[in-house]
Amino acid sequence: MRGKPSLRLTSELISPDNDSIHSTESVSSSILEYRIIRGRTYHSERHDSSYYAPNDERQNASADITHHYLTLLLDGKLFLAPIKQDIKRVLDIGTGTGIWAIDFADEYPHTEVTGTDLSPTQPSWIPPNVRFEIDDATQSWTWDEGSFDFVHMRYLFGSIPDWNQLFREAFRICAPGGWVESGEAECLVTSDDGTVKPGSAMDTWGRLFAESGEKIGRSFKVITEEVQRKGMEAAGFVDLQTVRYKIPMSGWAADPKLAEVGRYVRLTVENDMEGYSTFLWNNVLGWPADEHQIFLMSSRQELRDRNIHPYFTVQYVYGRKPE
Ligand SMILES: C[S@@+](CC[C@H](N)C(=O)[O-])C[C@H]1O[C@@H](n2cnc3c(N)ncnc32)[C@H](O)[C@@H]1O
Repeated sequence: MRGKPSLRLTSELISPDNDSIHSTESVSSSILEYRIIRGRTYHSERHDSSYYAPNDERQNASADITHHYLTLLLDGKLFLAPIKQDIKRVLDIGTGTGIWAIDFADEYPHTEVTGTDLSPTQPSWIPPNVRFEIDDATQSWTWDEGSFDFVHMRYLFGSIPDWNQLFREAFRICAPGGWVESGEAECLVTSDDGTVKPGSAMDTWGRLFAESGEKIGRSFKVITEEVQRKGMEAAGFVDLQTVRYKIPMSGWAADPKLAEVGRYVRLTVENDMEGYSTFLWNNVLGWPADEHQIFLMSSRQELRDRNIHPYFTVQYVYGRKPE
């Protein structure tokens, strides 16, 4: 289906414990040459190296916990768009550990699911109807026009220099009547009761994400800037729907579902605060390592303080390509 077969590397082909790497070997090995920053691995230099998060076990565990809290948030659903039950082909851009694509493939065994990413970190034990490819979503997409019935993207904040281009490509490869859905989080951390104070660690997270995003030309303020709705509208999607949630960063919420979501948010953040922040804080903003460590300690304390009620915003926008 795609014009550049050399880029169609399934995770099976590029798995380090797979002996059957043949013609793709040189490309595969360059993809597996991960960069190392302060002991953590990051995707290879074959792609622009601005993506901020590591691709190792620790970060992947956080990504899987994130999937869990987002699924809880959507009451067990994987998406909000009103797609048809007999959908044929689905694309998940920036699939990460592939957990969304795998769950989707399990729920829709007759649908072909493709997940793409810069890193080949997806498992190789996967349902027969899912495949993973290495592909840079910021470059021109090579799939044919109208190839997918549903294009899904989640948590690409801080990764995308041009959201309009991303949605233009999504529109092109989406079949008439098909859907696009984008779920994003805003980096700003706030509270409704003044317990997140200016200059506190929670407040500083948001500010530093915003500053470093500006420096690398990949915004973390994607909800404030309305990149999803603007990009989808400009591309030509119609019937846009927006759903916004306040996400507690610990278990403080009175609502039991949100309290549970919040406990998982704290878990995912605490599991890998270093991973979320090291590249941006140290390499982009030039913080000394010891200040960074002190900042992380204050963040842990604030997250555990029941008197502080921090939250951030998650927003889903979905739209349909006209028939
Ligand atoms: C925060 S993770 C989200 C993973 C997944 N979408 C999810 O929600 O579970 C962002 C993912 O986007 C990938 N990514 C970043 N820039 C990308 C690009 N230009 N092309 C493809 N994937 C990219 C990263 O490698 C990472 O796996």
